[in-house]
Amino acid sequence: MPRLLSLALLAVASADLDLANWMGQLAPILGDATLLDLSLPGTHDSMTYDLSDTLSDGYEGMSAATSAILHALTPGLAGRFIRKQGQTQGITITEMLEGGIRFIDFRVMYTVGPDRVAGGKDWYCLHGCESKRKAIAYLREVRSWMDAHPKEVVVLWASRHGNVALTGTAQYPGTTPAERQAFFKQVEDVFGELLMENVSLNETSIVDLQRRNKRLLWFASDYVESTRSSPRAADARSIDNQLKGGGYGREFVDFAKQGGSKLRDDRARNQFLLVSMSVGPPTPPSKMLRSWSSCRTSSEPTRNGRRSAQRPRKCRT
Ligand SMILES: *[C@@H]1O[C@H](CO)[C@@H](O)[C@H](O)[C@H]1NC(C)=O
Ligand SMILES: *[C@@H]1O[C@H](CO)[C@@H](O)[C@H](O)[C@H]1NC(C)=O
Repeated sequence: MPRLLSLALLAVASADLDLANWMGQLAPILGDATLLDLSLPGTHDSMTYDLSDTLSDGYEGMSAATSAILHALTPGLAGRFIRKQGQTQGITITEMLEGGIRFIDFRVMYTVGPDRVAGGKDWYCLHGCESKRKAIAYLREVRSWMDAHPKEVVVLWASRHGNVALTGTAQYPGTTPAERQAFFKQVEDVFGELLMENVSLNETSIVDLQRRNKRLLWFASDYVESTRSSPRAADARSIDNQLKGGGYGREFVDFAKQGGSKLRDDRARNQFLLVSMSVGPPTPPSKMLRSWSSCRTSSEPTRNGRRSAQRPRKCRT
């Protein structure tokens, strides 16, 4: 199947592949391919294009107290600097979807809004700094886009810092299950009938998902508490998250050569293979300068200081 599929993809690519509607366009040749058979282009730390200058609460590797102090200080101090270190994306989530991206690495945390020292908390996206808007606002954008593109299937993975396994307050420090569940309730309200419910990923064809309009897969870290084991979400522990050293070098090439059989092994175990081209596992802020993530989509300085104006880089998932 994968070989046939790539030949078919080539055939379509030589005609006019419409990136905004590629899943719909490919439907006639997808046969019984499931979501676990395709390579979905994805973005890493997807929401970092819209960060404020305020450090988020609960940032990886920092105590709650330090984080709270920095939250108050960063806009005037190092916020701008930290924001730039944390930015991996330069186009909006709608532009990503429009450009063919179908996997979104959605980092969220419960925190006081940007540029406020105190007050009520809500869920914001983060990567060091927190997003300008509430997380739910970006999800509404995804929903509108999906309504306008009725055959596209989108996978979102919610976590605080890209960890599939941590649960409870280890995943989302300083939060209660009720606060986490309230966020998932908002997610359910936004996506409604689009949410895949009781879907076995390795046995349900994409064509079937399109036909039944079950087009949004919500992977949740801390699945049991955050979603109360909802049938409308999937446990992030079924993501096989492979970090292979930045998408280059020996380790990555060796891995990529085995990609096909790895994909099949994972499908047999109902695991969603995610191949990250980020340079490494989550790093604490002290090492943040080195943690430049790949999949940059804008013209940003590279690690050695040169600028590269590249087209959006597709990370396989
Ligand atoms: C999904 O499974 C749950 C629990 O088994 C059940 O209550 C629910 O009705 C199912 N939903 C659908 C759409 O089959
Ligand atoms: C799907 O995954 C389950 C494990 O959750 C496995 O038992 C089953 O054989 C898999 N199906 C296919 C078609 O690979």
